[in-house]
Amino acid sequence: MRGNLLKKKILSFYTCIAFALGIFLFSANLAKSLLSVDPPGGRGTVNDTTENAFQHPFPDVSREQRREFFVGNSFFRDAWVVAKSTTEARDGLGPVFNSVSCSGCHALDGRGPAFKNGRVHLSLLFRLSRVGTDGIFPDPEYGGQFQPLGIKDVEGEGRVAVEFRAVKGTFADGTEYELREPIYRFENLSQGPMKARFSPRQAPQLAGIGLLEAIREEDILAQADPKDLDQDGISGRPNFVDDLIANTKRIGRFGWKAGQPTLIQQNAAAFNGDLGITSNLFPKDDCTATQTKCLSAPNGGDPELSDHILSRVTTYTQLLAVPQRRIHDPESVERGEKIFQQIQCAKCHTPSYVTGSDHPIDLLRDQKIYPYTDLLLHDMGMELADHRPEEGANGREWKTPPLWGLGLLQTVSKHENLLHDGRARGLEEAILWHGGEASASRDFYKKLSLSEREDLLTFLRSI
Ligand code: HEC
Ligand code: HEC
Repeated sequence: MRGNLLKKKILSFYTCIAFALGIFLFSANLAKSLLSVDPPGGRGTVNDTTENAFQHPFPDVSREQRREFFVGNSFFRDAWVVAKSTTEARDGLGPVFNSVSCSGCHALDGRGPAFKNGRVHLSLLFRLSRVGTDGIFPDPEYGGQFQPLGIKDVEGEGRVAVEFRAVKGTFADGTEYELREPIYRFENLSQGPMKARFSPRQAPQLAGIGLLEAIREEDILAQADPKDLDQDGISGRPNFVDDLIANTKRIGRFGWKAGQPTLIQQNAAAFNGDLGITSNLFPKDDCTATQTKCLSAPNGGDPELSDHILSRVTTYTQLLAVPQRRIHDPESVERGEKIFQQIQCAKCHTPSYVTGSDHPIDLLRDQKIYPYTDLLLHDMGMELADHRPEEGANGREWKTPPLWGLGLLQTVSKHENLLHDGRARGLEEAILWHGGEASASRDFYKKLSLSEREDLLTFLRSI
């Protein structure tokens, strides 16, 4: 009897130990997976994976911030009208323009599309310039941007047609793939043949951009390696651009070539270039000397956009939250994350930062975020070149775009057109277009097995 009791005690002792060990291992594992599912936007993370995922303010905005956000939202979403109208706060559209509202291109704060049914969509815009011996300047006939539309009695500048050329390739395992390269043709031109260099740009999704504004300058600069001193084939440099308010050069962060340093300036430039709305920052419409009807058209005030409305729209963009991660297959996501590191994606798509402590909006300060960008310019090779310089960026350089939320593009924007001009029809095509400094990384990708490639894509869709 005694012996039996002792055995039982020993047994239950070991059961206890095994149980405790089990709990320990389980919680250690849990902690590990919790670590990788940090909220990507810090306190600016929302739990919505529907088509509204990109449109939310930070969950804990103050009442005042919420009000400003929704006022800004209405000026972003609703159509602007031609001057002089009774809706004075929203008039001044044109004389030439690309869209009647910001949301015409960033619908639901999502992206593009660049192309629809084989045609160029209005949300793919074309920046224009000429390059002379004394520098870069806007096209004397069409200005700094191609505006296909005009108000009554003012001609739009024309339209752009596209054809696609197939570009074939093969993975190391023998599987073939096909990419599409867009080739553009300007038609119905109002000012004669197009002589400018042009750069096609797709409207990016906007979730989380306020947090990108709050990243410390020194954290961006610390990643730059313009002369590639560490000889890893990847350089990366900041685009120093004019900050029109501070009247100094600052690191560019917004736009596909990092041409704008702050959201307020980015937004004022968008009002001006895309809608034809003037502001104190950009007081002139994009009419050239040859566009006489454009020059003499009535305006909607001088300027058309008040500082007050610009400030509300800017608060709106600053407080757009980031959607929570979507992890359906944790093991595959974990394997994919390792591959992302191993094949050098993370060298440009920097996973995380802690934002600085001095952004004017309190909610953007000191947040651990996971945007997957270094905000630097990289030479992406002839494959992606637009041959058109923009401030410090040359014709082969592009800013590393953030990757957070991309897995929800299909849900929000009903397409997966990626890269600056939307040529890639999904994540894999985007990777296969990488050239220049990213060639080695792309070649590593092509050597992966099918299941490794799938793991990487599963990871990308989860961030
Ligand atoms: C015709 C389409 C179009 C319209 C209309 C438009 N945008 Fe954009 N938006 C773009 C494109 C294209 C870019 C990238 C610009 C570049 O690379 O220079 C962009 C970039 C941005 C960015 C920076 C995003 C980033 O990640 O870098 C913000 C913010 C923005 N737009 C806000 C606005 C606001 C506010 C309005 C309305 C006043 C507006 N946009 C109207 C096409 C559009
Ligand atoms: C040398 C820096 C660099 C490396 C390395 C790199 N990228 Fe990129 N990535 C970029 C730049 C710059 C762009 C934008 C190019 C463009 O728009 O033409 C980009 C674009 C993308 C896009 C499209 C994003 C969008 O918003 O449309 C995806 C997806 C992407 N990269 C994933 C990856 C993956 C996965 C890897 C590793 C296999 C990788 N990148 C390696 C710099 C890099």
